[in-house]
Amino acid sequence: MVVVGTGSVGAAVADAIVLQGLCDELVLINHHPDKATGLAMDLMDGTEFIGRFVSVRRGDWSDCRDADVVIVTAGPKPKPGETRFQELGAAIDIVDPILAEIRDSGFDGILIMVSNPVDVLSWFAWKRTGLPRAQVIGSGAALDTARLKAIIGEITRLDPRMVSGYVIGEHGESQFVPWSTVSFIGKSFTQYLEDNRDRYEGVTLEGIEERTRERGMTIKRLRGGTSQGIAATVAGITRTILWNERRVLPVSTLIDGEYEYDEHDVFLSLPVALDASGVGDFVDLHLTDEELARFHASARVVREHCAMIAD
Ligand code: 2OP
Repeated sequence: MVVVGTGSVGAAVADAIVLQGLCDELVLINHHPDKATGLAMDLMDGTEFIGRFVSVRRGDWSDCRDADVVIVTAGPKPKPGETRFQELGAAIDIVDPILAEIRDSGFDGILIMVSNPVDVLSWFAWKRTGLPRAQVIGSGAALDTARLKAIIGEITRLDPRMVSGYVIGEHGESQFVPWSTVSFIGKSFTQYLEDNRDRYEGVTLEGIEERTRERGMTIKRLRGGTSQGIAATVAGITRTILWNERRVLPVSTLIDGEYEYDEHDVFLSLPVALDASGVGDFVDLHLTDEELARFHASARVVREHCAMIAD
């Protein structure tokens, strides 16, 4: 497995992969090779105390050829107050040559894009590499979904993993929660909230959704950037792929007319079954008309930004 980029996100992703023992060998690539060497040494130093031996080393583009998974985390340093879309120009300058190297290496595994704006860059990566659609995935709203669950867990003081449901659409401002599909301890979350109105005074679906959407920017304001949540998310996506789990996760994937979604040529997050061959079956969520309208609005925003970088 290869991780490209060893900044705070790449380093946290590599750490999560090693701590979870997801592979035999992890190769790190960075524009500044010393940084990749240093991180590899640092990670190897923990070997004595972790469950499974993972060999970590600095590598180069030729290592992508036989990799099962390549994860691209490289991007510009986050600037305070800058939105994900505002990073697009600088991100393309960094990611474009990386994708050319990955393509030229003969890589034929699963490409996981993490760099932002992730939906636009995943679409760009799919075009640039020529990989089949099933093999290009953006970490997308899998992180926002984890955040939604964490927030519901904070509010209810129950395990966040009791929530079943997804954030879908763009990993950004136009993302949304199709509440009609969210359930919690055996009933719809909407019903749960109604049943416990006195306990959760002031808690609304809109408020939870807003906190979910803003969580990344809130963390960025508090500590300069996010890294741990995205790292755990990427490790989760990687695990379901490498271990062929067929777990359903809302990752950014090419939408091409599936079910009622009725969109084409755009990467957005929807729940899909992930396995060793990448994106498998989609889930027909039976969105309400209002939810579908929000999905199309999200597609429009992402498509507009794709148009800015199209050749
Ligand atoms: C995040 O949401 C900034 O996209 C990054 O954590």
